[in-house]
Amino acid sequence: MKKITAAITGVGSYLPDYILTNDEISTMVDTTDEWIMSRIGIKTRHILKGEGMGTSYMGARAIKNLLEKTGTDPMEIDMVICGTITPDMLFPSTGNLIADQAGCKKAFAYDISAACSGFIFGLTAAAQFIETGFVKKAIVVGADKMSSIIDYTDRNTCPIFGDGAAAVLLEPSTDGHGVLDSILHSDGSGEMHLYMKAGGSRYPATEETVRNKWHYVHQDGQAVFKAAVSNMADVAETIMKRNNLSADDVRYLVPHQANLRIIDATAHRMGLDRDKCMINIDKNGNTTAATIPLCLADYESQLKKGDNIILAAFGGGYTWGAVYVKWAY
Ligand code: UT7
Repeated sequence: MKKITAAITGVGSYLPDYILTNDEISTMVDTTDEWIMSRIGIKTRHILKGEGMGTSYMGARAIKNLLEKTGTDPMEIDMVICGTITPDMLFPSTGNLIADQAGCKKAFAYDISAACSGFIFGLTAAAQFIETGFVKKAIVVGADKMSSIIDYTDRNTCPIFGDGAAAVLLEPSTDGHGVLDSILHSDGSGEMHLYMKAGGSRYPATEETVRNKWHYVHQDGQAVFKAAVSNMADVAETIMKRNNLSADDVRYLVPHQANLRIIDATAHRMGLDRDKCMINIDKNGNTTAATIPLCLADYESQLKKGDNIILAAFGGGYTWGAVYVKWAY
């Protein structure tokens, strides 16, 4: 019997309409378009506006777009995994809410909290469910409303992040397409460099936690930068080597979009030129779990059946990893 692999058979996305420019950010904090472009590589980011609008709003729209593009009935979906660190609520899971809103009434759903690696952690999990035959059609959605946890008076973090969601459909393949290898890592000792201190069980919300700004992202940029550069490059190189892939064999690196300099360092280690990197950080900023599937959505028309792509991410936790995918359509 031929081995079953989990093929990506479609991509869908959603970005909110409001565009926050570097010029507008320069009116909020002491920064410039020149600093943000040269140090990070971001020009604009999308922001979800409107009272009561959470991450599930964007995730459900990304899935609806995916189902429409692939002509899939939502009732055929067996499972929805949502990578997010900005859930609508602590519970129920945002995956649950998204599945309901997108009409995937027969699917079981849950969230994965792995920050910027949320999509590749979810993709790897979903691939196992497909490979074992436990599910036939799975959706992995990366969705984050980072604007809900960003302090727009903190110039260290507010230029970086944006909101968005994107999703892929996974189905069984017996001709060797899909997710062929994954390497995933976690290191909880990275906690102090990138975190949101309050709102969980350690520090439930109080007047004091709000006053201290503990409900916002805190990042020690330089520490995260160093860890991201070395770990993302290491894991991308390792997955190439253990699958006997040379730079010529790789069609695209699909990197998490945190900083153009981190993307360049990873590509350099893999021996890839910039034109083999999917890049949209300039338009979308860092949308955390959504960056990788948003890249797939942007570059979908340039991919061909059989293309080798390497997905790589590093994020809070720390979490990091790489996934080798052979494109299926
Ligand atoms: O996706 C999750 C994982 N996250 C990451 O991968 C992010 C990794 N880190 C980074 O991308 C970068 O560290 C940042 C973009 C966050 C910061 O860039 P940096 O080159 O590491 O800057 P820095 O923090 O070392 O700061 C350099 C200088 C400082 O001024 P002094 O102390 O040298 O006078 C900062 O105060 O730049 C200053 N600075 C700014 N200046 C203008 C920091 N933010 C800004 C700003 N505009 N927005």
